[in-house]
Amino acid sequence: MFGQKRFSFNDIPDLTDKVAIVTGGNAGIGYVTARELARKNAHVIVCSRSIERGQTAVNKIKTETNNDKVEVLQLDLADWKGTKDAADSFVARKLPVNNAGIMATPYELNEHGIEKQFATNHVGHFVFTKVLLPVIEASAPSRIVNITSDYHRLGINFDDINLEKESVWARYGQSKTANILFTIELARRLEGKQVWANAVHPGFVATNLTQGYMAQSGVLVKTIVNLVKTIFALNEDDGALTQLYAATSPEIEKENYRGKYFVPIAKLETPRPFATNQETVSRLWKWTEELLNEKLGI
Ligand SMILES: NC(=O)c1ccc[n+]([C@@H]2O[C@H](COP(=O)([O-])OP(=O)(O)OC[C@H]3O[C@@H](n4cnc5c(N)ncnc54)[C@H](OP(=O)(O)O)[C@@H]3O)[C@@H](O)[C@H]2O)c1
Repeated sequence: MFGQKRFSFNDIPDLTDKVAIVTGGNAGIGYVTARELARKNAHVIVCSRSIERGQTAVNKIKTETNNDKVEVLQLDLADWKGTKDAADSFVARKLPVNNAGIMATPYELNEHGIEKQFATNHVGHFVFTKVLLPVIEASAPSRIVNITSDYHRLGINFDDINLEKESVWARYGQSKTANILFTIELARRLEGKQVWANAVHPGFVATNLTQGYMAQSGVLVKTIVNLVKTIFALNEDDGALTQLYAATSPEIEKENYRGKYFVPIAKLETPRPFATNQETVSRLWKWTEELLNEKLGI
């Protein structure tokens, strides 16, 4: 489908002495990412909401890679205080990959009144990254990779951030636009430092991400989604390649890619204009900081 791939597992450099944190590392493309980083000798932290699911993934990765430096960190990104505590408990680690996400889940608010997809995909990752940032900077050279989607379909509606009256897809799309806007401002703040932050659309990948949507759908929709997945989706290995590229390829530092957007496989692309609008970039950062200051005092 991609002809000659621009990046493959073989291109991942040796990662001895590197630490990689993979949010959502117990499943889907996060699992493949964690596994391949471990295969190249990184010390890998697999984040998962459930210790059991996380430990199962860790055991499997250890067996497949013969790397014993793989551990689980419990992390629920919709629980911002818990996310802050998890990050606080973490020391001297670098090269995190921000991957976890939810898609098209039913309308639900987290305990702070923010819609679950936005709370998890954007705000949770903002908390996690912000608390870890001093460690990431101290461990430089290091990378931050935020997983967005080609489905960044609309700008940020600051007057109605929860989009209750809109579709599940609008809410998912807004949270994924936020991932790009966040990455641009993060990269700007890291300019001149040996920390490279970029955003990645992994492609349409056959994972369990559609399960939130499927749970609300009828038999016909389920059949169509499964058919489309079978015909068009990348497998999980290929789906992980672009984020592995952004996390490990020497090209990122050589070309000094900062605040960029990559699509499969390992290709630089321009996101839609509303996802790079400088006014929205600054406004979202300020909005998120004010929210977290009010809710968590950080
Ligand atoms: N698959 C695609 O076609 C596609 C396309 C574009 C972008 N993406 C993006 O790729 C990323 C990974 O998706 P995937 O396809 O690999 O999906 P997946 O197989 O459903 O995996 C999602 C991961 O996120 C974790 N997660 C969910 N809610 C969480 C929370 N509140 N706190 C912490 N972790 C949570 C899940 O862990 P639990 O076991 O705790 O549920 C799981 O490990 C997402 O950011 C997604 O938006 C995927």
